[in-house]
Amino acid sequence: MIADIAKVSIAPMMDWTDRHCRAFHRVLSRRARLYTEMVTTGAVIHGPRERLLGFSEPEHPVAVQLGGSDPADLAEAARICADFGYDEINLNVGCPSDRVQNGRFGACLMQEPVLVGECVAAMKAAISLPVTVKCRIGVDDQDAEEALDRLSDCVVAASCDELTVHARKAWLQGLSPKENRDIPPLDYPRVYRLKAARPDLPIAINGGIKTWAEIHEHLKHLDGVMLGRVAYHEPEILLGVDRELHGEEPPVADGFEAVEAYEPFIAEQLAKGERLHNITRHMLGLFTGRPGARAYRRHLATEAVKPGANLNTLRDAVAHVSRAVERLAPADAA
Ligand SMILES: Cc1cc2nc3c(=O)[nH]c(=O)nc-3n(C[C@H](O)[C@H](O)[C@H](O)COP(=O)(O)O)c2cc1C
Repeated sequence: MIADIAKVSIAPMMDWTDRHCRAFHRVLSRRARLYTEMVTTGAVIHGPRERLLGFSEPEHPVAVQLGGSDPADLAEAARICADFGYDEINLNVGCPSDRVQNGRFGACLMQEPVLVGECVAAMKAAISLPVTVKCRIGVDDQDAEEALDRLSDCVVAASCDELTVHARKAWLQGLSPKENRDIPPLDYPRVYRLKAARPDLPIAINGGIKTWAEIHEHLKHLDGVMLGRVAYHEPEILLGVDRELHGEEPPVADGFEAVEAYEPFIAEQLAKGERLHNITRHMLGLFTGRPGARAYRRHLATEAVKPGANLNTLRDAVAHVSRAVERLAPADAA
């Protein structure tokens, strides 16, 4: 069991939740658990490890998500990730992309629950970290009652530490992974029923959750909530994690302070030769809903890609928001 289960986590998202993005999200919450993008066992075992797995200390607690279906490879990859210092190893049983299906892992593993159990057991035997699974409620024409029950039976038997359920089926043919994140419809009650039937298994829910009211409602039934797109597109929602769920002040008060707190990380990365855009592309959602947010986004999108872009480029972008807020302040006070 995960001793101090984080109630809110930020979903693994390919091309989005890289180390820059995670370092930025960590500025907004000390408590949210962060997930890497999915990394395949082949890449972990044979690829450039530091580039694929490197992360910075402040990211803790941080989980790595593995893609694979060979128990021995998963055990070896889990060992490598444990040595890197990750806090949790998560297995992807939810991605429907063709590439992943060809490798016989991701969502198609919903059809092979016994193998998923073997994968979890192999990783648990190899390391002492929590091993968790992120899955769907089923795929294609599977019966979602039976498919999710069988999967959870197999992972429970293998001593899985937590199951995160993206509360919709995956369709393995005919839909792109992007479409598969909005179609077919979500089925939250299915995940609640799973928890009622297996009260000892920590279960988190994922899919379409966008507000604090929704998070609180899910937490009446379940142990955790995983936020995906909303955390990326409206990162200020993360300011609520420490306050609403842990009774602690967030590390920063608002988006302006978040940028200030993130600046040393950016400066360090720029000094290593990283391009500003590779970092600030994950910050475009900051200030969403505030006056000046569009000008902030436009400024970053056009200027941060230019050679020589630096912290001043970011500060100039933020100034669009501060000026707009100042312009509105007297009217607000009236
Ligand atoms: C750009 C993008 C990349 C994703 N990559 C992964 C991934 O690597 N592994 C995974 O398990 N899910 C991945 N997902 C799915 C999310 O983890 C999550 O399950 C999904 O977006 C639904 O949650 P949401 O409605 O809160 O966004 C990805 C989603 C997005 C938007």
